[in-house]
Amino acid sequence: MHSFRPTVLFTALVASSGLVRAQCPAVWTDVAAELKTTFIDSSGNCNDDARAAIRLSFHDCFPGACDGSIILADECTDRGENAQMIGICSTLGTMATNFTVGTADLIQFAAAFGIASCPGLPAIAVKVGRTDSSTANAANQIPTQNDNATTIVAAFAAKGFTSTELVALIGAHSAAKDLNGNALDTTVDDLDTTFYTETANGTAPASLNSDVSMSSSSVTSGDWTTFGSDASAWADAFVPAMEKLSLLGNDASTLTDCSSVITAAFA
Ligand code: HEM
Ligand SMILES: *[C@@H]1O[C@H](CO)[C@@H](O)[C@H](O)[C@H]1NC(C)=O
Ligand SMILES: *[C@@H]1O[C@H](CO)[C@@H](O)[C@H](O)[C@H]1NC(C)=O
Ligand SMILES: *[C@@H]1O[C@H](CO)[C@@H](O)[C@H](O)[C@H]1NC(C)=O
Repeated sequence: MHSFRPTVLFTALVASSGLVRAQCPAVWTDVAAELKTTFIDSSGNCNDDARAAIRLSFHDCFPGACDGSIILADECTDRGENAQMIGICSTLGTMATNFTVGTADLIQFAAAFGIASCPGLPAIAVKVGRTDSSTANAANQIPTQNDNATTIVAAFAAKGFTSTELVALIGAHSAAKDLNGNALDTTVDDLDTTFYTETANGTAPASLNSDVSMSSSSVTSGDWTTFGSDASAWADAFVPAMEKLSLLGNDASTLTDCSSVITAAFA
């Protein structure tokens, strides 16, 4: 049944006139409702799917572009670095089909939703309209946990990120678990700064060698200490760095803002 919807027509006309960007498509409100049941457990905490979705943003974008290729070109199943995310790749791949939304967009929307699901940070802005790609990005772009600060800083510089943006982004490990399921800080359900201090002082339940290296290397330890002792300094650095990551390889000026859908889901 097709009904004439003046608001949709109005939005399209105003958008095409260039005066106002198009409104976020209504389907994203339905996606948000589905993600809420997927990412938050019965006690109200963010779960392993939320953690994996935050990480998936990094692993889709960093090798080249936020283009959905981690799912659409099977990077998820083909590359060892993505092995812990096969489950979330499958879930989000099916969800993109079910809701007829872009895979690249859904990955970034889900990461933003995961960040909003694990308490501690303000919501990040999220945009939609990316072009999906079934062509794999270059392999071996993601640093490993055995890389040191020098190598990781260089890898991020090659993608246009400063060492401060890198240290800020690594704070996502505040809500992370390692391969054995051990948390990388004592407050794994929160996106907070405990991760920085515990990694630096050796009291985290588990730590990645790469994170320990960044906590002590002269290139990164200044920002590491600052973020560990100042939650708002971390939030002020993390939010724009994560938004930048979510747009890699895309022209943000052509995208549509859907940030209000996420804030509304947690209002
Ligand atoms: C650059 C260096 C990085 C390295 C070496 C690294 C490495 C790792 C490793 C080894 C794990 C544990 C899972 C496993 O054992 O396979 C992990 C988890 C995670 N990483 Fe990173 N990571 C890096 C950067 C980032 C960035 C920039 C983000 C930001 C989005 C991020 C978000 C996460 C999250 C949320 C998890 C938890 C996943 C889960 O518990 O399922 N990581 N990372
Ligand atoms: C996709 O839709 C099918 C059929 O309605 C449903 O069984 C499945 O749970 C949905 N999956 C996701 C991830 O939304
Ligand atoms: C960091 O790792 C690289 C590559 O393995 C190595 O060449 C370099 O010496 C290491 N730097 C430090 C400070 O350990
Ligand atoms: C390590 O850091 C944590 C988190 O800030 C703090 O509670 C703890 O007292 C510190 N422990 C040591 C030995 O410095």
